Amino acid sequence: MLLYPNACLHFLRLACRRWSRLLLIITLVCPCFLILLFLGKLEEGFSYFLPLLISSPSHPSSTVALPHPLPPLLISPSNACSNSPFFLILVTSTPSHLNRRDAIRQSWGRLSTSLTLFLMGVPESQDEKAALVQEAGFHGDIIQAAFADTYRNLTVKTLVGLTWAVENCQNAKFLLKTDDDVFVNTPSLSDFLRVQKGPLYLGRIHWHVKPIRETYSRHYTSKDEYAGDYFPPYCSGTGYILSQEAAVLILQEQGRVPLLSLEDVYVGILASYAGIYPQHSARIAGSMMIPHQECCYRTMYTSHQVTPQGMSEAWAMLSKTEKEWCLGALLRCRISGTW
Ligand SMILES: *[C@@H]1O[C@H](CO)[C@@H](O)[C@H](O)[C@H]1NC(C)=O
Repeated sequence: MLLYPNACLHFLRLACRRWSRLLLIITLVCPCFLILLFLGKLEEGFSYFLPLLISSPSHPSSTVALPHPLPPLLISPSNACSNSPFFLILVTSTPSHLNRRDAIRQSWGRLSTSLTLFLMGVPESQDEKAALVQEAGFHGDIIQAAFADTYRNLTVKTLVGLTWAVENCQNAKFLLKTDDDVFVNTPSLSDFLRVQKGPLYLGRIHWHVKPIRETYSRHYTSKDEYAGDYFPPYCSGTGYILSQEAAVLILQEQGRVPLLSLEDVYVGILASYAGIYPQHSARIAGSMMIPHQECCYRTMYTSHQVTPQGMSEAWAMLSKTEKEWCLGALLRCRISGTW
């Protein structure tokens, strides 16, 4: 880093002496480059070129798109959207994770401009079933459909949530799909979304990802499920945002692709059929766990692997009246993050 100012000075001197335009341009460009890198704008800018880099899939127009029949709803908080939330957060949870749901309810899920709902299937035990009905009656924030609550059914869970949202919550301009171990900086995300327009599919982009063909893997994908060598670019399932219109367009493509158990990949495939390209945000951590520090929670929109205790601590950090000054936090928090 120390070398850098010296090198620039040297360039500047040469540029002045010889009036070489090229050197002058380099002198001006290199600080800009570093600043953009610093602000995460370089990688975000790159995602704008995605439409040039990948061809959009051709629509197999001869096949009629029949959506997969989704399991019927068992619990639906039908009045939850009556006060028109600006954005709706759909959290995939599982019946036994009551402590995680409570931590979210008492922290980032409390913001009044957003509405947070939990998606679940059916637990195995009768006790858990009864407890869930009670919890739903008490909080009114649970969507449950008639499918076994397993990891391999995560795509069904997400599709149930997105479908519920476009049918029951049309007033919400944006939907965020996330998990119950993710801390969401709801205040900053609200501010960011207020200025967004058009169909939006935003998150941490994964691209050039190969399907895993080893049957023992939790992420196994057979050739029947997906024949291609690479998945289209998709946003990490730990947190992605769809505008209402993008969600509608994406759900319309369901019949074209067999159901994959990889939820985020599946949404990415549907998006590519709908002609919607993902957009990248450097502030969405994906599967990274950022350091447990005020500046990191303040700067990022999401952070992964946060415990219930961590959620309330992070929320307390965000709610402080005296805010820390967070210069360079984006770069620092991500460099020192862990997977
Ligand atoms: C998904 O849910 C359905 C309906 O309950 C169930 O029959 C199926 O076994 C589940 N799939 C997996 C892979 O768990």
